[in-house]
Amino acid sequence: MTKQTAFITGISGQDGSYLAEYLLNNNYEVHGIVRRNSVAEHQESRIDHLAPFINVYYSDMLDNNSLRNTIEKVSPTEIYNLAAQSHVRISSEIPEFTTHVNAIGPLRILEVIKNSGGNVKFYQASSSEMFGKSVDADNFQRESTKMIPVSPYGCAKLFGYNITRHYREAYNLFAANGILFNHESPRRASNFVTSKVVKTAVQIKFGLATKLTLGNLDSQRDWGHSRDYVRAMVKILKHNIPDDWVVATGETRSIRQLLEVVFGRLDLNYQDYVVQDPKFMRPEELQYLRGDATKIREELGWKPEITFEEMIDEMLEFWIKNLSDK
Ligand code: NAP
Ligand code: GDD
Repeated sequence: MTKQTAFITGISGQDGSYLAEYLLNNNYEVHGIVRRNSVAEHQESRIDHLAPFINVYYSDMLDNNSLRNTIEKVSPTEIYNLAAQSHVRISSEIPEFTTHVNAIGPLRILEVIKNSGGNVKFYQASSSEMFGKSVDADNFQRESTKMIPVSPYGCAKLFGYNITRHYREAYNLFAANGILFNHESPRRASNFVTSKVVKTAVQIKFGLATKLTLGNLDSQRDWGHSRDYVRAMVKILKHNIPDDWVVATGETRSIRQLLEVVFGRLDLNYQDYVVQDPKFMRPEELQYLRGDATKIREELGWKPEITFEEMIDEMLEFWIKNLSDK
């Protein structure tokens, strides 16, 4: 069997770094792109440890020629499009940039695949944010749930999702969407709520901070672990039919419940430290997410293996180690 060659956009991100590790462990040749950063030390901090084993190129989702040239040079068997401006609240501050990267980006890659004869499998990082204010009568979101996004990020991701479906049907491409619900890890950037809560709670415990400033405490999310979710991405491309798949735990918790667990682990009461600031509120909030992953569980045999509590403990351990000598 010929060796599988993966091309990952967003390889320096949370998911990209875990996906690269997983593919290397499964005997893939791994290539990816990073964009230029003025602080060289920030460039590839999540993938530094993989440097000897992967091939990294400068490119950008906004630079069509470099994207096309790099893909043609690598000639991958699988493309994982994970690059995105992935922060929902920030997408309201930079909506045009978010749309260029998150919507036009996947279209550019699909065009490269179409024009090269279509002989490469394509994974699009679609998102539960696309559901927005829509939920089925049984309080779950699934593949058939209507999508009514409530952020520039969600609207751009919905275009990426639809254009992936359209190219699959129109040009017979192996183009698949993973509709992933929130997933976290020690590698999650600390301006997402789980990491922000864990990091600041540890700072409070160590006397390095006195309060935690948040936005909406009543929204609910279905939180899984990134390491579990990158396994789903690979299964989605390994399947013989290109399709769309919800990846979720099926459990939902509010921000208040997250606070109780994290502060509780540190013997602290979150109510003594948490304050709210409107600057962390969104113009339109997505209140509730809970995914039904029955299809991928039954058809591809995927299921999450890391519990919410295990994930929080891993994140706490990471931040305790990181902050203990500060
Ligand atoms: P992440 O940590 O923010 O990683 C995003 C990656 O995209 C980073 O490597 C980033 O590089 C890169 N990127 C951003 N703009 C780029 C551009 N113009 N050109 C090239 N690369 C660019 O996000 P993640 O959590 O790993 O998520 C991976 C993907 O899944 C994203 O598409 C996200 O929208 C989607 N998703 C995530 C979740 C979740 O809960 N994590 C759920 C559903 C879908 P820089 O470091 O240089 O910015
Ligand atoms: N980031 C952040 N910061 N969120 C806060 C804060 C805060 O200070 N305070 C409250 N929240 C609430 C948000 O309003 C939201 O309801 C919830 O915490 C989760 O916010 P994030 O962790 O930023 O994640 P997200 O749900 O908006 O988006 C993530 O999940 C999507 C999938 O549903 C991102 O990973 C997206 O890229 C992904 O597509």
